[in-house]
Amino acid sequence: MADKLVYVLNGPNLNRLGKREPEIYGSQTLDDIGAMLAERGRALGMSVAMHQSNHEGALVDWLHEAEDSGAHAVLLNAGAYTHTSVALLDAIRSIKVPVIEVHLSNPHTREHFRHTSWIGMAAKGTIAGFGAQSYMLALEAAAGL
Ligand code: DQA
Repeated sequence: MADKLVYVLNGPNLNRLGKREPEIYGSQTLDDIGAMLAERGRALGMSVAMHQSNHEGALVDWLHEAEDSGAHAVLLNAGAYTHTSVALLDAIRSIKVPVIEVHLSNPHTREHFRHTSWIGMAAKGTIAGFGAQSYMLALEAAAGL
């Protein structure tokens, strides 16, 4: 059977992981996380398409592409757009593929403006607060969908 395709979409500033506020986001880079996901994905019969952009519209386009490519699931860490983007909320609502919201940190323990998630209003579920492990837990959840 063909591998299940999983999109892993990353929003603004996540290209700086490893260097960016490591006390909050850890020392692993996005490439490190991508390699871990690819390896675990192989064991689960899933192929991982990982993307990052600092631009909101690129994330919207990849959500549409995930649907059109017949993806099994999307893992989405929208970074700060989580807390601002009605466009991403609408994009998730415009597709059928389940979207799992992912965060390295736990936004609920942080500033008040991070307590609102537009993504979470349409996501299948949310995994937050486990550092890079949040992505791995989300992949396991995607495998079980
Ligand atoms: C984040 C949490 C957001 O509040 C923040 O803007 C990020 C990263 C996380 O993974 O913990 O950029 O999504």
